[in-house]
Amino acid sequence: MEPILEVRNLTKIYEGGVLANHQINFSVEEGEIHALVGENGAGKSTLMKMLYGMESVTSGQIFVRGKEVTFHSSKDAIAEGIGMVHQHFMLVDSLTGAENMMLGVEGTCFFTDRKGDIKKTQEIAAQYNFEIDAERRVRDMSVGMKQKLEILKILYRGAKILILDEPTAVLTPQETEELFERLKELKEKGMTIIFISHKLKEVKQISDRITILKGGRTGGTYRTADVTEEEISRLMVGRVISFDYDKQKLKPEKELLRVEDLYYKDKFQVMKLGGVSFTLRDKEILGVAGVDGNGQSELISVITAEFRANRGKVYLKGKDVTNASIGEIRAEGLSYIPEDRMLNGCAAPMSVEENMIVSNIDSFANKAKMVNFRKVKEHSLHLIQEFNVKTASEKQPIKSLSGGNIQKAIVAREFSAGSDVLILDQPTRGVDVGAISFIHSKILEMRGEGNGILLVSADLNELISLSDRILVMHKGKIVACLDNTKEKVSEEELGLYMLGIKTQEGVSA
Ligand SMILES: Nc1ncnc2c1ncn2[C@@H]1O[C@H](COP(=O)(O)OP(=O)(O)OP(=O)(O)O)[C@@H](O)[C@H]1O
Ligand SMILES: [Mg+2]
Repeated sequence: MEPILEVRNLTKIYEGGVLANHQINFSVEEGEIHALVGENGAGKSTLMKMLYGMESVTSGQIFVRGKEVTFHSSKDAIAEGIGMVHQHFMLVDSLTGAENMMLGVEGTCFFTDRKGDIKKTQEIAAQYNFEIDAERRVRDMSVGMKQKLEILKILYRGAKILILDEPTAVLTPQETEELFERLKELKEKGMTIIFISHKLKEVKQISDRITILKGGRTGGTYRTADVTEEEISRLMVGRVISFDYDKQKLKPEKELLRVEDLYYKDKFQVMKLGGVSFTLRDKEILGVAGVDGNGQSELISVITAEFRANRGKVYLKGKDVTNASIGEIRAEGLSYIPEDRMLNGCAAPMSVEENMIVSNIDSFANKAKMVNFRKVKEHSLHLIQEFNVKTASEKQPIKSLSGGNIQKAIVAREFSAGSDVLILDQPTRGVDVGAISFIHSKILEMRGEGNGILLVSADLNELISLSDRILVMHKGKIVACLDNTKEKVSEEELGLYMLGIKTQEGVSA
């Protein structure tokens, strides 16, 4: 059978000379789920952007159903039935689900038939069994819903080949399961899916075949059933990586961050935090678990003063910082890695170098506020090397780095700021296995040096392998505080608390 999609000797050299794809050959069969894996910067997104007409091809050929195609824009790719959901969402935040659905579709008159658009969106959602709220604005949607909207958008445009660039990186385990159910249904309807992920367990679970990319070249295509997770990891990275850390026992001595009876209501007057209290001490990693939407992100947003608390207090090293500005809080010695790296983590058009100093620029300036550029350069080059950030130079705009490398640059900045309290919200989202183990070792190093780390993660494995204690949030309250030092907490037990099936009596954290 002829493959539905095939590329021959595809090469991409970016402006500035970065060789991102080198002579790639690979093909996708109709109706299969084909996984694409490889380290950060291996060239996965680049390859997919060429197939979607978003990046020009330097040399080589693309065939759709045996016919050679040349794409000048994604419109051309859509005309061939190819649709893509990007690693960083492309929705318009201020518009509703229905408005985003219709945006850019030929033949629709934008905003003229609101009711009709909503109805149409609801019909398509029902047809594919995707639950979305067509009338809600995108900025008020959960990531899971945004993702579904992105997929529906390309289905509505007639895509038969769906390219999903790290769709699960931003999803909770429950949302991932749901997405996989939908993907299997799409496959049964005859759709072809290309799926990028760093999570090999998922790749094993969902794909029929796997293509490996390594340093911009193909490392071959395998039938999923024929390779183990270890083998895939070895093919990708060249070594096997384990997440079983030998953590030394430490005794905390002082309080670093204390949250007292925190309440927060969102703009719809929904109670998101209903009396949260806990203490983070030195030399400790305090994990926060919870099904997405149970108050974890609001808790972080209130502590870091993005949202104002309705009641309660936040103390940083004994000082009341409730509702202070993020600048003031940082100056008191708090570092913060936000969940959404493109929105709050970095200044996209600025260089890697500038991004590496933005949160502590004062330490690079003299009394007259003059920035010492030589020092800035030295510092950023050092971090690029230490954190293995793949970039052509420190002057590259950060947005031209691969997703995982942007995350590594942000982690490098926050870990080098000299703070003794770190708030890490999904710190390893979208980074490859090698970089995860590196970031984990850095987190443990920070703990060993006496810092306190508040770690929010949707990855239960990550929480269990790093945390000293794990707080579980359910419906805006802490329902359990589990000691993870003597014996590891099990995922099943965490799950029971996360779903509200179990609660601890008189939780004290
Ligand atoms: N617009 C661009 N300009 C210059 N270089 C770029 C651009 N986009 C990507 N690159 C470079 O091309 C290489 C491949 O990047 P790509 O985004 O394809 O990697 P990836 O495999 O998707 O990685 P990740 O897992 O981190 O998302 C990287 O070295 C990256 O810095
Ligand atoms: Mg990518």
